[in-house]
Amino acid sequence: MVRKMEEKNITKIDGSVIINDDCVEALRGIENETVHLTFFDPPFNQGKDYLNFDDEQPTGEYWKWIEDVLGLINKKSTEGASIYFMQREKNTEEVLRSLRKSGWTFQNLIIWKKMTSAVPSEFRYGKQFQIIVYATKGDRPRIFNRLRANVPLPKNYKNERRNGVILTDVWDDIRELTSGYFAGDEAIRDKSGKRMHKQQAPLSLLLRIVLSSSLPGDTVLDPTAGTGVTAVVASQLKRNSLAIEIDPKYVELVKTRLYSLRKEDDIAKLRGYYSPTETLDKIWPFKKPLENFLFDKQQVIT
Ligand SMILES: C[S@@+](CC[C@H](N)C(=O)[O-])C[C@H]1O[C@@H](n2cnc3c(N)ncnc32)[C@H](O)[C@@H]1O
Repeated sequence: MVRKMEEKNITKIDGSVIINDDCVEALRGIENETVHLTFFDPPFNQGKDYLNFDDEQPTGEYWKWIEDVLGLINKKSTEGASIYFMQREKNTEEVLRSLRKSGWTFQNLIIWKKMTSAVPSEFRYGKQFQIIVYATKGDRPRIFNRLRANVPLPKNYKNERRNGVILTDVWDDIRELTSGYFAGDEAIRDKSGKRMHKQQAPLSLLLRIVLSSSLPGDTVLDPTAGTGVTAVVASQLKRNSLAIEIDPKYVELVKTRLYSLRKEDDIAKLRGYYSPTETLDKIWPFKKPLENFLFDKQQVIT
């Protein structure tokens, strides 16, 4: 899949390839039409401190870069491949435009509603969601596994659900890893307890994306991989993955995370949540029978 496998900046751990490079450079080295699914969570150009990336660029330059990356991903993707592009809500217009201009077809504007955090404002409503645009190469996805989940019942709801609910484009059941203490055990920390990557995405978010839009054996790309959450989920779901990250310290983190799975990164605990999905055994190959993961109805997938 990757032409430059012998180079020093490339590591292979089972089905996961990790590349320490600029994503534009690395993407050029990938064979055309080999990627089935991409999760794209780039820096948001909001002045954060990234190594080798200017996160305070003139707006036009930033979106030109995004469009270039999206165009390259499109070229490397199979017909019907999917992309999930996560961004701030205020950039929705640019996100949709850049996807369209780089050859992607819009499918859904997913609202990821945060559970415990919001950005307050004095002159408008506080912001409580991020957008994730789901788009495909061509009009129809090659794969879309329609998931059913044991979403908790609304309070005082009388009717028990026997078969879960089919997921919609509003995702309000996935807890974000907020800053500080409340991020919980999944957040990776250094010895002093400081978060190692403030933009670390939750496993349950990537679980939903990888389960919905790929099959075992497919190749899942994350061109700005950070802590490698996409690869961590993909490898447990028996997908191949390609993680590109420019900062060597995060690359080391991804490798450590993949070499030995932390208890907090084990996705098995989330399987019961999706137990009503008919095709679950096919899209989530698993050794233990489903009965071992009886779902507690009060639980949300934090
Ligand atoms: C928003 S974070 C991604 C966080 C990731 N989704 C996670 O869950 O950990 C963006 C990442 O892109 C990396 N990055 C910035 N510029 C890059 C580039 N040109 N090529 C590859 N990675 C880049 C940053 O170092 C950062 O780790």
